[in-house]
Amino acid sequence: MSKKVLITRIIPDTAYSMLTQAGFEVSVWEGNGPMTQPQLIERAKQVDALMPLGADRLDKYFFSQCSHLNVIAQFAVGYDNIDVEEATRLRIPVGNTPDVLSDATADIAFGLMMAVSRKMFYLHKSIERDEWKQFEPLKNLGQELTRKTLGIFGMGRIGMVMAQRCRGAFNMEVIYHNRSRNAEAEQLYGARYVSFDELLQQSDVLSVHSVLSDKTRGMFNKDVFSRMKKSAIFINTSRGGVHNEEDLIEALRSETIWGAGLDVTNPEPMHANNPLLQMPNAAVLPHIGSATVEARTGMARLAAENIIAFYATGNMPHCVNRQVLVK
Ligand code: DGY
Repeated sequence: MSKKVLITRIIPDTAYSMLTQAGFEVSVWEGNGPMTQPQLIERAKQVDALMPLGADRLDKYFFSQCSHLNVIAQFAVGYDNIDVEEATRLRIPVGNTPDVLSDATADIAFGLMMAVSRKMFYLHKSIERDEWKQFEPLKNLGQELTRKTLGIFGMGRIGMVMAQRCRGAFNMEVIYHNRSRNAEAEQLYGARYVSFDELLQQSDVLSVHSVLSDKTRGMFNKDVFSRMKKSAIFINTSRGGVHNEEDLIEALRSETIWGAGLDVTNPEPMHANNPLLQMPNAAVLPHIGSATVEARTGMARLAAENIIAFYATGNMPHCVNRQVLVK
């Protein structure tokens, strides 16, 4: 009998086509937004494999109701919405979609850095408000990025592309802090490993590319912002939970740091009356890091490959709890 797969949102057709061609029976939640957890559980109970998105909450309670699942293939590289420890205890492999979205996400980090350094979003809005009356020699001044220091927090695949972009475009010096040293980044981009304190003290632009975990949750807070340069630009394209939004707003208001660019917020979606949206030195985007045709198609392909490979071989190309796979 063919295995049943549930895809929890409408995603690029690649996933559906690959799975049906491989003989799976595929259902897709076609609602205008994510399912509630009870809806998700009800539908997940009827399938063997799940392809969820970041907005689906796969917590302990979910797993207590859906321990029958054979495999989970997340349509995202991040998986902080999934209690992987619980999945591992139940021997359910969890797949993700790395690499294919690294260029797209780093492009957004790079774009936000540029937008903040020249106050682009704010000044665009000032024209809409009919505030452009004349050439202003002393107003609207930004800062240049050439030969500045880029600090990367989390030197994984996306951080490496950001380093490459910044080095190539602005000849920036790259420093980084990570759980472990990244020899490739050091060799390719001259990246220098520094302590977290040194990262804060030396970065002109500090770009966050880490996972959201118990360790990183709320890590960029009042205390951390106060240890950064007054001229620093903070960029976050990873997960909104890594920074404390109230502390960030206060750090910008009090000029503790110079600017901030966010593709991820806390909470998401951000409310339209959030003060960050009116600040001259802030630029905010609605979590579009992976929103390119190429990246989303690649994510759909990888997620489908994870399920197909799991049933065909017991292995998965991209698994975050590989220890549960049959070797
Ligand atoms: C990811 O893949 O983790 C992106 O943030 C989209 O959820």
